[in-house]
Amino acid sequence: MKVSIIGCGRVGTTTAYAIALQGLAKELVLVDIDNEKAQGEALDIVHGTAQLPNISVSAGGYQDTAGSDVVVVTAGIPRKPGESRLDLAKKNVQVVSDIVDEIMKVNTSTYILMVSNPVDIMTQIAYKQSELPFNTVFGLGNVLDQLRFESLLGEYLGIHPANISAMVVGEHGDSMVILEEDTYISGVPLDKYKVVSSETIEKIKENTIKGGAQVIQRKGGTFYSVALAICKVISAIHNDTKEVLPVCYYHKGNDTTYSEPTIIGKNGIEQVVKVNLPSDKQDKLQHSINTIRSMLDEVNF
Ligand code: 2OP
Repeated sequence: MKVSIIGCGRVGTTTAYAIALQGLAKELVLVDIDNEKAQGEALDIVHGTAQLPNISVSAGGYQDTAGSDVVVVTAGIPRKPGESRLDLAKKNVQVVSDIVDEIMKVNTSTYILMVSNPVDIMTQIAYKQSELPFNTVFGLGNVLDQLRFESLLGEYLGIHPANISAMVVGEHGDSMVILEEDTYISGVPLDKYKVVSSETIEKIKENTIKGGAQVIQRKGGTFYSVALAICKVISAIHNDTKEVLPVCYYHKGNDTTYSEPTIIGKNGIEQVVKVNLPSDKQDKLQHSINTIRSMLDEVNF
């Protein structure tokens, strides 16, 4: 599999390293506006390839992304501490639409995995700009939030988070909807596995929702967990695992991009899953969709 990464900031480079470590690509191409930096990043990984699963890593321009199976877009202006997602969206609209144009000049069919924020907005732009089928243009969406919630809950319960199955839908942002009542621990509903006070659940939810901001506040950006969430999606494509993942994708019915569970395999989004939500969660999801839709209105998408 050929994977190209656009943007060699901390998210892009950590993702490249994680992909190389996990053997999720045979060919990895790094592209950055600062080509010297991209070359340095590629070379740094190349120097370790004797210790990695077989992989070729290089840096180049957009022309070198031709024939990619997946293009991961991480480029963009990062969110500053305290900055609103809307302000960020306004800055990144042009950046991302230019990148998508460049990708499409040399790739007729590729999956675009959008990571740049606000990811729901940027994924909608990528979908519309690329004119690719909706099931081939998707964003990291709530995959990262699902990973955070499961990891934090696992830490609280003192169990490996891989035993936890949770779902998050809606915006990758403050209005995301965590389906805590539908969380399972190795097949056992959370409330039957262990009585966890509602205060504790609320705290874990809050730390999930605010998780990105908490890290940004302390170290200026998030990238380890982001890279691992990206690898979950790439692995599902690479290994055709049919994993159920809440990537964000374009919903034709309401002309808005947000996360709901999808089945990811070698054909990208192979199926979308419509969850029958209880009415309170349905209302929250609708609020989340409205939040994204009004941001899209502001940026004319
Ligand atoms: C995160 O949630 C900033 O979206 C990024 O870590």
